[in-house]
Formats: sequence, structure tokens, C-alpha cells
Amino acid sequence: FLVNASEALGRPIPETLFGIFFEEINHAGAGGLWAELVSNRGFEAGGPDTPSNIDPWSIIGDEYSSLTLSTDRSSCFEHNKVALRMEVLCDAEGTDICPAGGVGIYNPGFWGMNIEKGKKYKVVLYLRSSGAINVSVSLTGPNGLETLATHDIIASSCDVSNWKKMEVLLEANATNPNSRLQLTTTRKGVIWFDQVSAMPVDTYKGHGFRSELAEMLADLKPKFIRFPGGCFVEGEWLRNAFRWKATIGPWEERPGHFGDVWKYWTDDGLGYFEFLQLTEDLGSLPVWVFNSGFSHNDQVSSSSVRPFVQEALDSIEFARGDPNSTWGSMRAAMGHPEPFDLRYVALGNEDCLKKNNYRGNYLKFHTAIKKAYPDIKIITNCFGFSRKLDHPADFYDYHLYTSANNMFSMAHRFDHTSRGGPKAFVSEYAATGNAGKGNLLAALAEAAFLIGIEQNSDIVSMASYAPLFVNDNDRKWSPDAIVFNSSQLYGTPSYWAQHFFRESSSATVLHSTIQPNTTTSLIASAIMWNNSDDGKSYLRIKIVNFGNDTVNLKISVDGLEPNSIQLSGSNKTELTSGNLMDENSFNEPKKVKPTQSSLENAGKDMDVVLLPYSLTSFDLLK
Ligand code: AHR
Repeated sequence: FLVNASEALGRPIPETLFGIFFEEINHAGAGGLWAELVSNRGFEAGGPDTPSNIDPWSIIGDEYSSLTLSTDRSSCFEHNKVALRMEVLCDAEGTDICPAGGVGIYNPGFWGMNIEKGKKYKVVLYLRSSGAINVSVSLTGPNGLETLATHDIIASSCDVSNWKKMEVLLEANATNPNSRLQLTTTRKGVIWFDQVSAMPVDTYKGHGFRSELAEMLADLKPKFIRFPGGCFVEGEWLRNAFRWKATIGPWEERPGHFGDVWKYWTDDGLGYFEFLQLTEDLGSLPVWVFNSGFSHNDQVSSSSVRPFVQEALDSIEFARGDPNSTWGSMRAAMGHPEPFDLRYVALGNEDCLKKNNYRGNYLKFHTAIKKAYPDIKIITNCFGFSRKLDHPADFYDYHLYTSANNMFSMAHRFDHTSRGGPKAFVSEYAATGNAGKGNLLAALAEAAFLIGIEQNSDIVSMASYAPLFVNDNDRKWSPDAIVFNSSQLYGTPSYWAQHFFRESSSATVLHSTIQPNTTTSLIASAIMWNNSDDGKSYLRIKIVNFGNDTVNLKISVDGLEPNSIQLSGSNKTELTSGNLMDENSFNEPKKVKPTQSSLENAGKDMDVVLLPYSLTSFDLLK
């Protein structure tokens, strides 16, 4: 493998080449990255007309002798009128004595709440009542017997005759990953509950993100985050698509919505503002995908798409407008007077080929956005590599889900595409089919594809894997990069393969060749970069061996000063495993994970061994 280290022969890699794509799929956000523990916190998920669907809330006590539950539209929140009405029939001091522990309701969260000893949880709820109340707010084990933390809310009837916000701070005295939140009482009367939230006090950067999941994202050093979908942006029907205006402002006033593509309710605690905050917290740039008048089953004609265009313009003003502007002031009111660094917007998702209005709608958006915000880069989802686009665009979106073998060969996908048109944004890629729930085979094929992207980064500007997250209790799509439940998490081999590309954005891709060029099972690239952490300069060679044989390879680097490679600090990292189909799991989260060792023979000329089916990087410290 011949590398020429001369920067003059190399090419700068775009500063945004590798990022992540977050979609609200597989409970990635609700019951995932968003740390809210209560599911269906406003009792809205059953819809405004259903008398009593409060799932996953459940009753504590006997539904005939001790209490009855129903929903009505008596909430104090205009946009989410449904509240829970709980009529308690028993009484500690009456003849119909309540069972020990009281009666009431519990919420198991998203397949159990992870409550940890010594940690604090903030519970906020709204209630009103026909009389005085004594309500216990408790975190308990799964059957309610073990109490991990509790606090009694006691109030007189005039205190709670109208809706009242209550806040309780609970500190857990034990750990249970399968806990629940209980609201119980032993006093007869009627209590209405609404907007019940329980959040851990410690979240990533204090912004509501589940820390250990956010840290896994931070470890990828993503340069951008595309959000909030995917199909989630479109919806099966327009009425169920993500509408950003319904997801901002105080959480209690957000109506929530049913994501009808992935078939679950979200309270929209993770809304447009929080997505923007996440990008900032991870040091990445937002790529905001908005609905451009298309769902999977209905669409808006170009002659009536104007309100959608205005909605998009308002979203840009919300993100980066002056704090005195209409929408910028709302951002400021949410605690972020400084604008977010929004530079990229995408008009819909996978609509081009399916919808005959796409071009017509697109042009309306494009004209209006470029007029108001000439610097904003616009992404079309019509492919631009096979034919010239019939509309202006800064980037075109490209999605690739294919078998591992095909993915490996797609490393050459962009070798011969035209360099004349807009650049490519590979916003979704993954090896599927024989990839299981995420195995080594898939990861190696994807690494090869990414090496191809690195080599073609003059025409490919951005790339992100999909989907990013899966809550193991609601697997709508496999494979995924990060798997979790309420308390556990691990990266699939695909997640770890992306680690090899963390330093690529803004680096220089060097001129390199594999000889002989008939070697079809190897794909390699070489980059050079200055590491901001230690201020040192590195050269990284990455090679995928997609074959069953060990390969003995000679690596020669031209254009370096003699003795310019330092032995100490140079190392080798390998991603491989005993079996090509090996996957990680909650039981074996690190079965397929990169291993690092020092590179004893680091130098301009090295004889190296590439294991069968492996991804290896050689980092040379200059
Ligand atoms: O990543 C899962 C889905 O695949 C996305 O929602 C969609 O864009 C694509 O079809």
C-alpha cells in the first residue's frame, strides 16, 4: 500500500463529512435519548374522545370498590385538554377502608424506569380536587411493594380547587431498573391529574438528555446531526407528521403526537428546540429536515403549499433569528437568546421519486428560503448522480440500505459520478439483509463504504449511518448503531466502525494506491490531521480486509522526513472477531469492539498483518 504524505497531492476533507442522523424511530427519543421517565405524561395518547385509554398508566386498587378512572377535557392547557379524573371510593377513615398503601395510578415509563440509589428525580404534576388531598408520590419497584423514594403532597380544598402545579424532589434509596411512578391516596374524593413528569436531575449538560446515551454520541465526534427523521418527518398522513411549532415552548403545553409511521405516541419533550440544543451540546451543526407538504399517503399541491413554506421560514427564524423577532423571541424565552448555528435544511425525505409535486413544491421553498436566508444550504432528495437535477440545490440526499457484499462494492459508488452538480449528502446508509441485529460483516462493509466516501469527499460532503438508536423493547428497524433499554446500552459493530472515522472531517486525504490494483478484498485510505487534544500531527491508514485470508501487506509512506515517525504514540486499532456474524448484546456488549495496541514497527516502511475480515487503522504520530 503506497501513500504519498505530501499535502500538495492530498485534498482537504469537508469539515462536516461525518455526522449522525437522529430519527424518532425505535423509541430513540421518547423512552430513549430524552430522559423523561413518564410515558404519556399528559394522558393525551388515547386521543381527545376516548373515555379512558391512558396506556401505559394503570390502576392501583380495585376498579369497582376502590376507584374509577376516566378521562375528560378539563385540563388547564388549551392545546392538550385531556386530563385524568380519578374518583376514589374508599377512605382511610370511612367504612370502605382503602387497601394498605392506598389506591391510585402508576406509570411504568418506557418498559420500566431506571431508578438509581442516591440519584435525585424531579417530579412535576398538575392536579385539582373536589376536596382536601393527601397524595403520595412514590418511585417503587415493578410490583409497587418496594418503595425507593416517596413524598406526600398534602393540600387543603381551597388550595387545589383549581389546577395547581406541584413539584417534588425524590432521592432514591435503592436501585431498580424496572421501577414505576405511583400516585396514591387513601382519601375519598375526586382528583384530576394532568402533565405528570419525572426527570432525573442529572442529564447531559443539564439539558434533559439521558447522559450515557448522549455520551455515546459525543464519542463519535459528530460534525452534524440530521434530525428529526426520516419517515418520521413525513408521516403516513400529513396530519401525523412532525410539526415543529407544536413541539416548542413549555413542555406542559405541547400536545404531543402519534408518529404513525413507527406507530407510537410521543409527548414531544424532545422538540425542535431540544434538537437544536443537542447539536450545540455535541459541538455539531444542525441539519433540519422539515416536512415540505408530503406524507407517505397524501400531499399538498404546489398551489397550496405556501403555508408550509411559511412554517419552514418561521423555523429558520426560530433557530437563528434576532431575539426580538417573532420566532427568535420564543427561542430566547426558552433560554437561548443566542442564535443556533443553522446552516443546512433538507426539504422532506425520500419524496422525490414517489411524489409528482416534489419539484413544484421544492421550487417554492427554495425561492423563499434563498431570498430570506441566502447563505442557507438546501438539500433536495432527488438523486443528482445519475442525471442532472431539474432544480437548484446545494446538496442532494442519497440513502443506501443494501446487503453487506453490495455495500462493500459501493465503496466505489462515487468514483465516477459527475463532479459538476450539487454535492452528495449520504444521510442514511447501512448494511442490511445478512446484517442481523448488527454484526461484524455489516460493520466491515460500511467501513469500506466510508473509506470510499473519504476518497470521494470532493463530491460527497456529508454522511451518516441509520438508524442511530433502538430501544430493545420496540425494535421497528434492524440493525441500528446503539442498542439500549432502561438501564443498559451497547454499540453495535457498526457504531464502533464509525469510531475509525472520527478524525476524518477537516483532515487531509492523502494520495494512496493498493498494488496490485487487482486486490479486490482490500479497501484502504490514508489521512493526515492535527489533533486538537494533544496538538500533535498524525497520519492514519485504514484498511478493510473483506476476505477470509490473512493478508501480509507492506505499507510505504513517501514524502515524510527521515525518522519523522515516533514509535511512542503510534498505534494500531483492530475491529474483528472470531466469527463474521458476531454481534454485541446486553450480555456481551464488548464482544466486537476495537482493540488498540502499540505499533512496534511504526515507520515509513512497515510490514503489517491484516487479519481475515477485519478493519485495521495504523496511526503514525509525526
Ligand atoms: O432509517 C429508517 C428509514 O429508512 C427512514 O425513516 C427513511 O428515511 C428510510 O426509508
